[in-house]
Amino acid sequence: MAIRKPAKRRSSSPKTRPLAVVILAAGAGKRMRSAVPKVLQPLAGRPLLQYVLDTARSLDPAAVHVVYGHGGEAVPAAFAHEAVTWTLQADRLGTGHAVMQVAPKLSAGQRVLILYADVPLLTTATLQSLLEAAGGDEVGLLTVNARDPAGYGRVLRDTKGRVRAIVEDQDATAKQRRVCECNTGVMTLPAERLTRWLRRLDNRNAQGEFYLTDVIGLAVRDRVAVRPLLAADEAEVQGVNDRVQLAAVEGAWRARQARRLMLEGATLIDPARVDIRGSVTVGRDVVIDVNVVLEGRVELGDGARIGPNCLISNTQIGAGTRVFGHCVIDGATIGPDCNIGPFARLRPHSVLAEGVHIGNFVEVKNSRIGAGSKANHLSYLGDATIGAGVNIGAGTITCNYDGANKWTTTIEDRAFIGSGSMLVAPVHIGADATIGAGSTISRAAPAGQLTVARSRQVSVPAWKRPVKRGT
Ligand code: UD1
Ligand code: CA
Repeated sequence: MAIRKPAKRRSSSPKTRPLAVVILAAGAGKRMRSAVPKVLQPLAGRPLLQYVLDTARSLDPAAVHVVYGHGGEAVPAAFAHEAVTWTLQADRLGTGHAVMQVAPKLSAGQRVLILYADVPLLTTATLQSLLEAAGGDEVGLLTVNARDPAGYGRVLRDTKGRVRAIVEDQDATAKQRRVCECNTGVMTLPAERLTRWLRRLDNRNAQGEFYLTDVIGLAVRDRVAVRPLLAADEAEVQGVNDRVQLAAVEGAWRARQARRLMLEGATLIDPARVDIRGSVTVGRDVVIDVNVVLEGRVELGDGARIGPNCLISNTQIGAGTRVFGHCVIDGATIGPDCNIGPFARLRPHSVLAEGVHIGNFVEVKNSRIGAGSKANHLSYLGDATIGAGVNIGAGTITCNYDGANKWTTTIEDRAFIGSGSMLVAPVHIGADATIGAGSTISRAAPAGQLTVARSRQVSVPAWKRPVKRGT
């Protein structure tokens, strides 16, 4: 991410102070018009706050504090797995008031970084630049030249370009409102100074709130330098206040992920039409066609090709495997050089070895399929262990459920299952066995033999077709 670097290097390194990240997450989020607290709203499948927590963690902080309020205990409950210090802001009296709630938990000597749960796309690189700009003892302020500054606090600079104060939109004069450089809200300050300035805040302003932004004026008054860092990319500091902004931020996230995959060696036929909702890794020469949704952990090996309109979740796909259009794949492990689809469905715990073919309208669940085995048309394979080189004819079904329990089907290497076979589990088909088409197999079929289980065909030579009555 291109960031304008601070002009001079500061002598004291931010590394000399342990970092405490404070994430504000107490806002009501009224404009979302939702029963779900704003910070739990999903962005590309994960709650907004998760993004900010992950970014905070990437800075290797000594402590992460989250100020919550709206949504109550649902917010900490949703992040029970995170090592976070939670602080309740019972009355939401402004951003300054929110940080005041954490102040007693900060220790002198720490450097504090203020982040917002509803600003999810900030990058580690930008925050590192900000921390570097502020050095050990100064204030760092992330600003942005907003295309539409309305609503933002404006950054006021003197003729030498030094930051003097932030004035909120509602408190600004007409002239101040013409300033385009805006406060992102993201700032870093030494803990002991922050604590002192917080005590000096008041709420005599247009909104009757304790503004965190007033600490900038107090820093200037105390002759502490405020080092501004102008964010190069407005999307990175975009906040989420309503669902329009949520969609815009998701679009920016999608574009960022698509760009990453392309730089890692994947061809995206249309980068605007691939949705990445999780962590996706790609090998070289992967090709992803349009309208593909990748969720959770997805790994695509070298040369894997994904056809249009596929939904792939938590799945590993081997090198050279082709997934044709319209497949739904969840929780599968697919080996190299397989052909999947079109219109195939792979459900959790489907493990396919190399060169397996799963064709149209075939559903596989909790089954292992050996190398080179094929089920090309209209089958259900559930709770099955299938060897190598097996051919599953069209319309074959593993009848794995008796209405109370699930049972397994075992098919050994090179067995040939005729079309339309019902394999009533638990059942075992031996190696090189052949099952006659249309068989209902409910007992073991021996290796190497033909097993047919269907009524014999009869022809009735004297049979007369019935005729309509009265003719
Ligand atoms: C704030 C800044 C403004 C900046 C803008 C960037 C102040 C006074 N103003 O304005 O300069 O341009 O962000 O988006 O800081 N929050 C709490 N508790 C509160 C109030 C807010 O946790 O009592 C949280 C909200 O959940 C939100 C964030 O702080 O995530 C910002 O609050 P908001 O009221 O949206 O501030 P703005 O008016 O947008
Ligand atoms: Ca806001």
